[in-house]
Amino acid sequence: MTTGDAAVKVRDVSHQFGEPGDPQFVRALLDTNLDITRGELLCLIGPSGCGKSTLLNMIGGLLAPSAGTVEVNNKLVRAPLPRDIAFVFQENALFPWCTVIENVKLGMVFQGVPKSEQDARAKKSLEAVGLKDFMNHYPAQLSGGMRQRAALARALSLETSILLMDEPFGALDEQTRMILGEDLSVLLAATGKTIVFVTHSLGEAVFLADRVAVFSARPGHIKEIIAVDEPHPRKPSFVTTEKFGKLRNTLYGLLHDEIRKAVEQSAMAGPGS
Ligand SMILES: Nc1ncnc2c1ncn2[C@@H]1O[C@H](COP(=O)(O)OP(=O)(O)OP(=O)(O)O)[C@@H](O)[C@H]1O
Ligand SMILES: [Mg+2]
Repeated sequence: MTTGDAAVKVRDVSHQFGEPGDPQFVRALLDTNLDITRGELLCLIGPSGCGKSTLLNMIGGLLAPSAGTVEVNNKLVRAPLPRDIAFVFQENALFPWCTVIENVKLGMVFQGVPKSEQDARAKKSLEAVGLKDFMNHYPAQLSGGMRQRAALARALSLETSILLMDEPFGALDEQTRMILGEDLSVLLAATGKTIVFVTHSLGEAVFLADRVAVFSARPGHIKEIIAVDEPHPRKPSFVTTEKFGKLRNTLYGLLHDEIRKAVEQSAMAGPGS
């Protein structure tokens, strides 16, 4: 799909780690093309090792593609763009020796936000994720779900138009991630941000996404894109609808063969395939 106003344009992107012949050589991504529309939430889903994080890191300018280009807000990505993009990673993204609010402010320090604005912005984003009462706690004093809320608050406080989330709820139990998903849907519907969200959970993808991009086994490329035509914020009852079940089943069908291929690949051929 091509859109004039795409926030992110991925063009013929391939990536390999190492050189052919190296024992560690991996062809991670192959000829990937993707346009991410401004304001949409796009989920990336696919077998482990298919290149989802690699693609996210290239969009975020943390990694340069071996071939092809990535554009963000009509700029060619050559390095991180902290004014355009904020990241939320899976876990352990908080400094344990800083309180929650200090952790949130650190992101703004790196982005160069004036000191006079940092306190108000940190409190506003902590309020948005429901953590204002815990701003003086240390990460070790929080539950896993609360830590991820804090990491989200840090990303929100940067006020970027794009948010990249790499399995942000991946280390959490099913109930906690369900509630976080519901809260995220409400929160993000209000922000109008463009979000790329990597998940292994089919249900999470259908619940959150405007579109779900399904990756093939390695070398990864986008096998199919499924649209989830349901307004935001999504109601918790969406999960119990026939529409939700059908979309989840479609994703399961698309993914199943790729996951089996990926498992056989790693059992038979090792990483250098
Ligand atoms: N820095 C690196 N050096 C060498 N190989 C790497 C590096 N990072 C990733 N790879 C390899 O590239 C492939 C794609 O990795 P990537 O982390 O993008 O997969 P993923 O889809 O995010 O997987 P998961 O779902 O398990 O997080 C994997 O085979 C991985 O081993
Ligand atoms: Mg990953």
